[in-house]
Amino acid sequence: MKTQKIAVVGYGQRGSIYANYALQKPEEFVVTAIVDNDPDRLDLAKSLHTCPTFSDYKDFLAAGIEADIVAVATQDKDHREHAIACMAAGYDLLLEKPIATSLEDCEAIYEASVKYGRKIIVCHVLRYTPFYSKLKEVVDSGVLGEIVTMNTTECVGYYHQAHSFVRGPWRNSYEACPMILAKCCHDMDMIRYILGKKCLSVSSFGGLTHFTGNNAPEGSADYCSDCGCTDCVYKAQTIYEREEFFRGYFTTDVSNEGNWREKLVHSPYDRCVYKCDNDVVDHQVCIFEFENGVTVSHTMNAFSKEIYRDIKIHGTKAELVGNMEALYLELRPFGSDVVRYDFSDANTSGNHGGGDISMMHSLYLERNGKPAPGITYIDVSIDSHRMSFGAEKSRLTGKVVKI
Ligand SMILES: NC(=O)c1ccc[n+]([C@@H]2O[C@H](COP(=O)([O-])OP(=O)(O)OC[C@H]3O[C@@H](n4cnc5c(N)ncnc54)[C@H](O)[C@@H]3O)[C@@H](O)[C@H]2O)c1
Repeated sequence: MKTQKIAVVGYGQRGSIYANYALQKPEEFVVTAIVDNDPDRLDLAKSLHTCPTFSDYKDFLAAGIEADIVAVATQDKDHREHAIACMAAGYDLLLEKPIATSLEDCEAIYEASVKYGRKIIVCHVLRYTPFYSKLKEVVDSGVLGEIVTMNTTECVGYYHQAHSFVRGPWRNSYEACPMILAKCCHDMDMIRYILGKKCLSVSSFGGLTHFTGNNAPEGSADYCSDCGCTDCVYKAQTIYEREEFFRGYFTTDVSNEGNWREKLVHSPYDRCVYKCDNDVVDHQVCIFEFENGVTVSHTMNAFSKEIYRDIKIHGTKAELVGNMEALYLELRPFGSDVVRYDFSDANTSGNHGGGDISMMHSLYLERNGKPAPGITYIDVSIDSHRMSFGAEKSRLTGKVVKI
């Protein structure tokens, strides 16, 4: 098969995963350009890659670089501009989720893909994990009978919430987007993918109850590095001491020996979690009605010790339950023995339970015209985004929203 040329716009946490995959699998991908407007990120890219680099995506487009696909991995609000410009220049896209921050922008990107005749593959990485791949295979085998209802849970993790949705890029629905889109468009995609049906309506409740000024401990400072509250579980220094990956949002020198501790001081990530400009929810429940009366409930919640997703699917002949991070699925057929699938030996390296690297392999297959399990294009992904936008509208208006 042919090695694919990939260019990356936005060499942040996500874009660097895609570019660096090419270093691990040079027979699958070669990076032909990297674009990032942060000089530190570009220096990091230059230290690992030999391709041309650009600080302005317009210079990249003007350079006429050869690429079979461009990964657009800039922040959510920039997707519309960057995606449409790249397609107008003739590139197919690997587009980070969410497609965009409003339904109008999602539709504009979709319409541009039709206008320019370009493909957009959306990075719904969960589809490619060993866990969800098996789950989809079991559902498609028909062993569950007719699916009647399902429950899904996404536990964000207290430290992930603090990093991304209180202090970080997705804390504010105006600057980024509603959390049910940013965090759960993956879950919406999986729900729709598993059921293979259209969502008809949604009702949703939730809000921001904990990470607000009135919960700030007495005497707490604006920044953790100036704060005397020693027993705060959200203290930035404690979280980043443990979470090396998240340090990448404020320094390129993430190792324990690196400069992350000084870079953290008085950065946005040092802020007291009770004194940020965050407005996104810390818990939200959604109830969906699908075709044929199938119902689904989805709960997203910040307050868990670890990050995990679990799922329960109830069919007329069996139920299927599992937990992605606990690496198991159980098929419980009515009247016969339980079948347990254990993923502890599967390749779940990297982020998202192995989904990132498996997605890149599927992309390589897709680009070579081979069957590519899980690959999803924008026309399907936009439906799952409609579920998130509908849920947020319902939460804000208190009404059932038709999708
Ligand atoms: N698929 C997933 O599971 C998943 C997980 C996390 C984030 N995301 C999405 O991936 C995207 C990137 O997120 P991230 O976590 O990598 O964030 P990030 O902030 O680490 O990366 C964004 C990068 O884009 C660069 N950038 C910003 N404006 C630019 C511009 N005008 N031109 C060129 N470069 C520019 C930034 O310097 C940064 O390096 C977001 O849309 C996010 O929602 C997807």
